[in-house]
Amino acid sequence: MDTQQEEIDLQKLLRQQLHSLGQFGVREIPVGNGDFEFQFEAEEASIEPIERSKVPPNNSPQPAAKTVAKATAIPAPAATTPLSDNWGPATVHDERPSALEIINAEVRGCTKCEELCAKRIQTVFGVGDPSARLVFVGEGPGADEDRMGEPFVGKAGKLLNKILAASKLKREEVYILNTVKCRPPRNRNPTESEIRDCWDYADRQLEVIQPEFICCLGSVAAKTMLQTTQSLGRLRGKFHPWKGARLIVTYHPAYLLRNEGAKRHVWEDMQLLVKEMGIDLSN
Ligand code: URA
Ligand code: SF4
Repeated sequence: MDTQQEEIDLQKLLRQQLHSLGQFGVREIPVGNGDFEFQFEAEEASIEPIERSKVPPNNSPQPAAKTVAKATAIPAPAATTPLSDNWGPATVHDERPSALEIINAEVRGCTKCEELCAKRIQTVFGVGDPSARLVFVGEGPGADEDRMGEPFVGKAGKLLNKILAASKLKREEVYILNTVKCRPPRNRNPTESEIRDCWDYADRQLEVIQPEFICCLGSVAAKTMLQTTQSLGRLRGKFHPWKGARLIVTYHPAYLLRNEGAKRHVWEDMQLLVKEMGIDLSN
């Protein structure tokens, strides 16, 4: 390849990268001493839906149960992270919505946490594709979610939508759930006993969906799922085996609204995640 062509290709790649970062809300990339920090815009902007880029045909072999189960086919590349294959028996694709609805009915009637169920408007179960390849796990509903009955619909949710769009993911093709299903008052963290009481529901949701990938948003989800006290900074940036899935940890969107500097780490984590999913961010 001649130098001129290389330069044109490089320019094209750079334009594409800048476009992706723009979708994520990046407005400035100051070039300094090499230790540059992305500047993000925290304000809510409407996101143009992005069509999923062309994906190569799926010729990777799948286990029999999963062949029935997976409807949306983004081909999985060869696994590059260890996989401990210990999901329970798979729920077939068509039965997943009703299997989730059975759990949701239980959650709606749940009164295990006295304070939370006394103060909630409603429970917030989860939203998205019951056969999603990727599940996001947040912390717990905030005031907007408590009012709407859907996870991540407030300010943090708007930023999550931007993150999804920049990563060429559509909200309706992933699944989003929280560690606890009722709003902790005054946006406090859920207590250990609330998490202990509630986690079983999320665990059962994940067993029904059996995603290939899980993304923990923030340390409450990460510490609950990985049973660790390690900091988020130590847990992020790599895949962890979790049942039959590969789990990645990143900062919570609400944290990003207060800490601009963490956004570049989230972008790194998302790039790592979607690359592993076989999604090409370069076009
Ligand atoms: N934060 C969360 O962790 N979950 C939501 O649903 C909203 C905000
Ligand atoms: Fe039940 Fe979970 Fe709500 Fe607690 S937070 S009352 S365990 S649904």
